[in-house]
Amino acid sequence: MNNQLFELAAKRRSVRKYTDAKISDDVINEIMKVALAAPCSFGHRPVEFVVVRNKKTIRELAGCKSLGGSQIICADAVIVVMVELSRGEFWIEDGAVASGYILLAAEQYDVGACWVHIRNRTGRSRSSDEEIRELLGVPDGYAVLNLIALGGKGERKKGYAESDFDFSKVHRETF
Ligand SMILES: Cc1cc2nc3c(=O)[nH]c(=O)nc-3n(C[C@H](O)[C@H](O)[C@H](O)COP(=O)(O)O)c2cc1C
Repeated sequence: MNNQLFELAAKRRSVRKYTDAKISDDVINEIMKVALAAPCSFGHRPVEFVVVRNKKTIRELAGCKSLGGSQIICADAVIVVMVELSRGEFWIEDGAVASGYILLAAEQYDVGACWVHIRNRTGRSRSSDEEIRELLGVPDGYAVLNLIALGGKGERKKGYAESDFDFSKVHRETF
């Protein structure tokens, strides 16, 4: 059966190396439209984003995560995903769904993307969340869940085949 979304999802891989290619603002806008269309708890739309393209700010963002964030430095754009905490208990889920949408949308435009985790991670001297919020001037009441690094694909990973997925994880009626 035709399943374009599966084809896209199976092709998507985490890309951590980026070329010097520039992503156009139009493509970034299309990706962000998809992010805004993600479902969210109670329809409160508590997720907000900062699209960072300034190289110096991108380098500083990379420094806000002491381990495992080095790929950010070569990204052409970094999307900072944050959630307004007063809008409900489901902030992690809300941010995560929007982030998943961003990853799929990026693949649609053959843009390399990788989730870089921020919640409960440490930066230079404080939590990554605090350091990023200070760097970007995010008001109180928001938490940064993660970053999505975006760039031209500097590595080509094989997509997944249907046989890579374990259908025994899908239970029917009972576990
Ligand atoms: C919640 C979550 C946190 C992640 N954190 C990081 C991270 O901090 N750094 C990183 O390089 N990749 C991170 N990833 C990407 C995963 O490592 C990657 O999705 C996984 O290894 C599967 O590979 P694939 O994306 O190529 O299918 C994260 C993914 C998720 C969903």
